[in-house]
Amino acid sequence: TWRLEDWIDRTVEEIREKVGAERVLCGLSGGVDSTVAAVLTARALGDQLQCLFVDNGLLRKDEADQVMDTYRVLDLSVHRVDAGGRFLGALAGVTDPEAKRKAIGWTFVEVFEDVAGGLGGAAWLLQGTLYPDVIESGHQGKGASVIKSHHNVGGLPEIMKMKVLEPLRDLFKDEVRQIGRLLGIPEVFVARQPFPGPGLAVRCLGEVVEPRLALLREADAIFREEIAAAGLYNQLWQAFCVLLPTRSVGVMGDVRTYAETAVLRAVESQDGMTADWARLPYDLLDRTARRICNEVPGINRVTLDITGKPPSTIEWE
Ligand code: XMP
Repeated sequence: TWRLEDWIDRTVEEIREKVGAERVLCGLSGGVDSTVAAVLTARALGDQLQCLFVDNGLLRKDEADQVMDTYRVLDLSVHRVDAGGRFLGALAGVTDPEAKRKAIGWTFVEVFEDVAGGLGGAAWLLQGTLYPDVIESGHQGKGASVIKSHHNVGGLPEIMKMKVLEPLRDLFKDEVRQIGRLLGIPEVFVARQPFPGPGLAVRCLGEVVEPRLALLREADAIFREEIAAAGLYNQLWQAFCVLLPTRSVGVMGDVRTYAETAVLRAVESQDGMTADWARLPYDLLDRTARRICNEVPGINRVTLDITGKPPSTIEWE
């Protein structure tokens, strides 16, 4: 860890030199990356840093309140904006995966622009971009094709005419986690599995509407609860549910149902660039599927994703 302690000292120094007396604005997503970037920058700049947490309404069950609690513990000065309605408005009628990501990206920019002015103009925008984000968004090498447009490395700085501060852009996730620990971020937070910037929108296939998001949140919470109860949380890169755009016929008691389908997606990975599907115990899968169908009216079928990356990606969109 001495190497990472060194890295922290050096980076804190670099941030101070680069930024000088200017102000920095940070968009916190609730994830590990942006939080580590913010705590690091706060260490370098103190109250020259102002953080903004945009609740896009696409977070998991109870997540927005939980991350705000963590920010309080970390003593970050965070302004929270509840913008779920605006994001859902922008997503209305949108089913194409890239179109969803773009709609979310644009809405982010709009909300940011609206709120940032009121927080006192900042010259810098802090982003928690990691090395794999840089690669997979085709930011390196002109010829690299974009696999998925990551909204967190999108056009925000250009539009807002801000300079970009990306202190984590040479790091992999495991390094970011270790740095987070060294910076005193609570273990439960640091060890959290990655969650994509566009949130549940890219796990709610088809149109993203609140009733479907609500089903997805409940199913996803059950799956993650079972994973945690089995002691498997820390061994998995990610475990989550996806809601398919297809309904299917089922039977509940002696009544016919025609309801939604949840997919269980659990993967093992070192860095998210490649992944293998997790061989979860059958009894865990069985319990999860039964609980989802019993506890989430509106879902009558649960399936399991058994593809790796490649050929699939971890997220479905
Ligand atoms: P894929 O689905 O491309 O995902 O295999 C690789 C890893 O990246 C996460 N992911 C994102 N993270 N913004 C993020 O911050 C995004 O737009 C985004 N898209 C995917 C995904 O959850 C997985 O861990």
